[in-house]
Amino acid sequence: MKKVLIIHGPNLGLLGLREPDIYGNFSLDAINEKIKKLAKEKKVSVDFLQSNHEGEIVDAIGSSPKKYDAIVINPAAYTHTSVAIRDAVAAIDIPVVEVHLSNIYRREEFRHKSLVAAAMGQISGFGVNSYLLGLLAAIEIINK
Ligand code: DQA
Repeated sequence: MKKVLIIHGPNLGLLGLREPDIYGNFSLDAINEKIKKLAKEKKVSVDFLQSNHEGEIVDAIGSSPKKYDAIVINPAAYTHTSVAIRDAVAAIDIPVVEVHLSNIYRREEFRHKSLVAAAMGQISGFGVNSYLLGLLAAIEIINK
């Protein structure tokens, strides 16, 4: 069975409480449940990492090709700042799909730039569905 790592970046553990007008009312657990349900339907296995620490995310990306077939990542604020996460994504040879709950291009200007755009593609602005669409994109790529 193909394996996908889902990475949630900083402050996403606060979903549900955090700016619900922007990010919605779903908790991270609720989002993960939806991802698990889709993964089960599509017969892939998923693991989850939520981290507020850049180095931990870099380590997880770097070690993922040994364990996973693809990554779906919401780098959260690190999207806009982290050369280290960008370089980690560029360094590995498994597909990486970048997702965002909000449409980062309709928000403050500092969010318009993604350094993680080294990923294969990006899905932004569809709330929880960004993760589900991101997982479908990853599955499509690894099943080819
Ligand atoms: C986010 C968008 C980022 O700009 C922000 O820092 C986040 C969440 C999103 O999912 O919409 O923490 O990645």
